Parts: sequence; C-alpha cells; structure tokens
Amino acid sequence: SPIPLGTRAYRGRLLSPLTPEGSRNQGAGLRFIEDALLLVTPDGRILSAGPAATTTFRGPVLDLRPAVLIPGFVDAHLHYPQTRITGSASGPLLDWLERSVFPEEARFDDPAHAAAVASDFTRRMLMAGTTTCAAYSSAHAAATDTLFEALDRAGLRAFAGLTLMDQGCPEPLRLDHREALPAMRDLIQKWHGKGEGRLQFIVTPRFALSCSRPLLEAAAQVAADHQLFVQTHLAESPAEAEAVLRACPWAIDYLDVYDRLGLLGPRSLFAHAIHLSPRAWDRLAEAGARVAHCPDSNFFLDSGRMPIDEPRRRHVPIALGSDVGAGRSFDMRRAMSHAFDSALCLGTRLTPAELFTLATLGGATALDLQGRVGSLDPGKEADFLVVRCPDHITTEEGILAQLAFASDESTIQRVYVRGAQVHPVD
Ligand code: GUN
Ligand code: ZN
Repeated sequence: SPIPLGTRAYRGRLLSPLTPEGSRNQGAGLRFIEDALLLVTPDGRILSAGPAATTTFRGPVLDLRPAVLIPGFVDAHLHYPQTRITGSASGPLLDWLERSVFPEEARFDDPAHAAAVASDFTRRMLMAGTTTCAAYSSAHAAATDTLFEALDRAGLRAFAGLTLMDQGCPEPLRLDHREALPAMRDLIQKWHGKGEGRLQFIVTPRFALSCSRPLLEAAAQVAADHQLFVQTHLAESPAEAEAVLRACPWAIDYLDVYDRLGLLGPRSLFAHAIHLSPRAWDRLAEAGARVAHCPDSNFFLDSGRMPIDEPRRRHVPIALGSDVGAGRSFDMRRAMSHAFDSALCLGTRLTPAELFTLATLGGATALDLQGRVGSLDPGKEADFLVVRCPDHITTEEGILAQLAFASDESTIQRVYVRGAQVHPVD
C-alpha cells in the first residue's frame, strides 16, 4: 500500500512487545530490530516498524542511532496532588494519609497551587517517558479540571478522576454524594474522550474507608451510566483491611465491599491488591478486573509484597504504578526494578522482558488500550520513546537489562504521543 504524504521516519534500534492476536495474555514475546525504520503517518499512527534495510522510504529520515525506540510507558496508578510530598511516606499507610496526604491535598482548593503542581506533574511524567497514566486528582472539581487542562496541554494520554471521599478525612476534603454526582457529570461532559480520545474520566472512590455506602453506590452508578473505568485502592495494608472489615461487617472480605456495591467488574482497576485471600483473587479474576502493582510504594510504606503469581496464573491484567507520592519516583524503570525485587522476595524471578512488558503493553492492556498503544505494531497510535543507550550495549538482553535495572545512563531523549513530539518542547 502507498505511503501517505507527510509520513515521518525514525531510524534506531527498536524494542517492543508483540501484541498477541485476540488473547488476554499480556504479551507474546518481544521484537528487537538492530537497525529499524519506524514509519508514522501524519495522523499519528504506526505504518510500519521493520528493518531499515528492507523498508523502502524516500522521504527524510531522522537518524537516532544508537538510541532505542520503545513504546511509551504506562503508569497505571499515581496521585497528582501528592507530587510535592514524594519522599514523605515513611510510615504505615493510615498514619501517612493523616499526617502528610490530607493536609497537602486540602491545598488544592487554591487554584494557583493546583495549576503550579499540575504543570509540574505532567512535566515530570514526560521526562520519565510516561505517555499514558491513570491519575487520582484531589477532591476538588476545579483542581481536577486544572489537571485535565494540563494533561491536554502536555499532550499526554490519561485517565484522571475526581477523588471521592466523604468520611475519615478533614472536612474541606469531604464531598457529599449529592455534590459529587453533578461534579463528575460536568467533568465527564467537558473532558471524557477529548484530545482525540487521549483523555478519559475515571471514577475514583479513594478507598472503602473514605467513602460512605451512598458515595460508593453513586460512584458505581456513574461508572455504569457512562461505561467508565473505576479505580480505587484495595487491600494495601493489614491495618487498613482490618478497619474496612470493622466498618463493613456485612462484607465477607475487602473485595466484597466493592463487589456488593457494584464497583467490581471488567473496568475496575485495583491498586496494590496485596492482602487478598484465594477466594478474592478468584472472584477478581472471574469479574475481569485489573490490578495496578505499585511495588515502590509497597516497600516504602512497608505495606507488604503483592503476590504477583496470583494475578499472573489467573490471567488478571497487571499494570505497574509509580504510586507517586507514596512511590518515590515518576520513572517507570524504577517501578520495573522494584517489581523485580518485590517478586524476588516471594521467590519469583521476573525477567527483564516481563518487566518491560508490564510497563508498556501490560499497562495498556489493563486499561483496555491494547488495541491503540503499548507496542510498536502497525495500526497502533504512535506513542513511543527515544531512549539513549550506550552503543557498547548491543544485544536485546543488554538493552532490556539496562532499561529495567540500570536506567541512570539511558536518558529519555524524546517522547511522542500519537506521533506528536511532546518532550522536549520549546
Ligand atoms: N489508600 C487510600 N488513599 C491512598 C493514597 O493516597 N495512597 C496510597 N498509597 N494508598 C491510599
Ligand atoms: Zn494510591
């Protein structure tokens, strides 16, 4: 087929997961091309990704060798209003929320603070090579609107949600379900599907402890009405799990709280998922839900180790999350490295290829974006990174190890979303 006018060509080494045909499996191996030409159409799609020697293209080529072209990273769990408190999370979860998180999140009623942090937040993601994120906002509709504006301006692909809470938090952060409903409807109307489909509103009840039953039910209703993704926290710390069962004695376990209130389904994304029984894992898998694995935060808060074999053997889609601000870095390569350590603690040795897939196609799959992004397959939207890689590293294994375990030397040189360069910009 003819090459559309205005097609752009990028030459470099290329490393990408392969998207398996029609399967929920998170990867079908990797593709490594030592000298590749990536062709991107003017409307931002991948036309082809193949060896430079066998690709016929007559236009100008941006020669980026020895850099490596890889899909953009997916950060499936992080908190915009915690950007300024990274590094503070050195206590048990519930103490840290009270001591550091709630006071900082309360500041997002100030439009100037919200705007300043929103541009910081998006800039730091782009610098780390994150092209898709699932972000929690604060409990403020105006700050959430500001976040969407910043995500749109930065050119990011994102799910973002108003963080819902009406109990167990300071008064200024409380949002009654009667206020939350119209606030969510306005944000959905203004932002959902905007930026040529890059932006999505995600229903975001913070977690069972901070939401009353009517608020959780309202969240489920909005998600069902608009067919939206839902994100929340699940079974992160033992003290949290105990408190949830005390507050909801009608539930058989933590997951059952969300299940009974309509928040467990194929568009549910649960962060952490550390302390779950085999029953809960079976039920989560049966419902088609997804998990966001946040290993850095799990270490730093001492929450526990997510037993990654449980979702893996049940084919539950697994994404990686930085969980900034409990996580200490926006860099998904750090998340890969921590995911390795976390699995190793439980006797599982993840390969660099698996870690790389988790941070790209795995994340895309967990967010139902596997048909659009997550790999450099023809037809997908061109979300990709140009990563510096020393030329003495020549093999696929070497590049993968560098990405997952030794990222200091491999800066993110350029970031593209839908074929548009979003970093650096001048
Ligand atoms: N559980 C409820 N809220 C939060 C949060 O902001 N961070 C983390 N890590 N866990 C939570
Ligand atoms: Zn979180």
